Amino acid sequence: MAPVNTHKITLDESEMPTRWYNILHDLPTPPPPPLHPATGAPVGPEDLAAIFPMDLILQEVTTEKYIDIPEEVLDVYRLWRPSPLYRAHNLEKALGTPAHIYYKYEGVSPAGSHKPNTDVAQAFYNAKAGVRKLTTETGAGQWGTSLAFACAQFGIECEVWQVRASYDGKPYRRIMIETLGGTIHPSPSTLTASGRAVLAEHPDSPGSLGIAISEAVEVAAGDPNANYALGSVLNHVLLHQSIIGEETLLQLAKAGETADLVIGCAGGGSNFGGLITPFLREKLASGSGPVLRAAEPASCPSLTQGTYAYDYGDVAGLTPMMKMHTLGHDFIPDPIHAGGLRYHGMSPLISHLYEERLIEAVAVPQSDTFAAGVLFARTEGIVPAPESTHALAAMLAEARAAVETGEEKVIVVGLSGHGHLDLPAYEAYLHGDLTDHSWSDTELQESVARALAKLPVAPA
Ligand SMILES: Cc1ncc(COP(=O)(O)O)c(C=O)c1O
Repeated sequence: MAPVNTHKITLDESEMPTRWYNILHDLPTPPPPPLHPATGAPVGPEDLAAIFPMDLILQEVTTEKYIDIPEEVLDVYRLWRPSPLYRAHNLEKALGTPAHIYYKYEGVSPAGSHKPNTDVAQAFYNAKAGVRKLTTETGAGQWGTSLAFACAQFGIECEVWQVRASYDGKPYRRIMIETLGGTIHPSPSTLTASGRAVLAEHPDSPGSLGIAISEAVEVAAGDPNANYALGSVLNHVLLHQSIIGEETLLQLAKAGETADLVIGCAGGGSNFGGLITPFLREKLASGSGPVLRAAEPASCPSLTQGTYAYDYGDVAGLTPMMKMHTLGHDFIPDPIHAGGLRYHGMSPLISHLYEERLIEAVAVPQSDTFAAGVLFARTEGIVPAPESTHALAAMLAEARAAVETGEEKVIVVGLSGHGHLDLPAYEAYLHGDLTDHSWSDTELQESVARALAKLPVAPA
């Protein structure tokens, strides 16, 4: 067992888990299937084959409990995995809390976040299927960076459409994508029909993730040698991220601890899902276990204030309809700095776990998240990604409550990435330039009703 003053609980490369875990195998009820917008019938593998390779389509629907991680993927994972689990001794001291705080740090990956856990797998299966190029969208650039890294590992091209406002305003991730060998365009672009249509109406459009998705999907669907890669939301993405939780369980066992509470931030739900599903497996098997809590922005509160309904995954309506917690597919969240959490929906799997009361969720205002990020940087020395600070803020609330109760609660928090390329957001916080925004239930219900009225068929 690790001595009590240990900061990092590490695993040897040889101890890295070699299987992904699939929670679908152990759920009491399966989540409702995605539906084809034209027919209202469940989508089949053939509907997805234009943009995904068959290995990933099968992983999307399988209920097998474990999937072996291919050796080629393990080999790339070993560049940074197993990632460290830290005991936040310095933060505990600063708070004077009896809580034991642990954080699982995914910022050690080449892209600086958890995203390569799935990108490497997606690039591998596409390369194996003979695909020569992957297309994708990116906002601030985390996901595009990660895909460019993964494509370089397997010798395939990577083409990224980046939301124009970020392309112009946040150059460092764009340069990183190019350095890693990716091609990047501002979106809307003149390269696609969807981009040209937007530019014809709004020549100065700052772009949106919805438009960028339409461009990337259009190019992949029209090129037999190209596929599309998605960074969150889908079952196969959560499956690949399960390595986070599997490692954490092994590391906690090394520390001789059992978690009482596990917290992660949730945008589309992939790092949260990857962290908590192995804990949920143990909990379902034994009948007891930690509370599992998602932290989301108060300005984009899909779990805590959204409606559980069938909706499109993207703004343009190119994806299947998915039953999920949604704010409406054309919902435009406030331009908060945690770009990765500005998504109108939530993974159907995470939404289902929430409906089944297997997980909890809290919404956190932006200023609290940056206050948590700054305290964390000044104690533990890591400047966290703005997305990750949501989990830190939710953790701090518990750690402070433990000061009152005296409870030695074991809290595990997912630190999904570092914020080294998000420093302007910290500058805005430090200069007092950040604003908080929240929505009334009525405003959000109206937004959802407007969006759902636009669906071509009304699903049950
Ligand atoms: C560092 C970081 N954390 C979290 C997220 C949210 O995504 P997800 O909910 O899929 O983990 C993102 C998305 O861009 C991210 O970059």
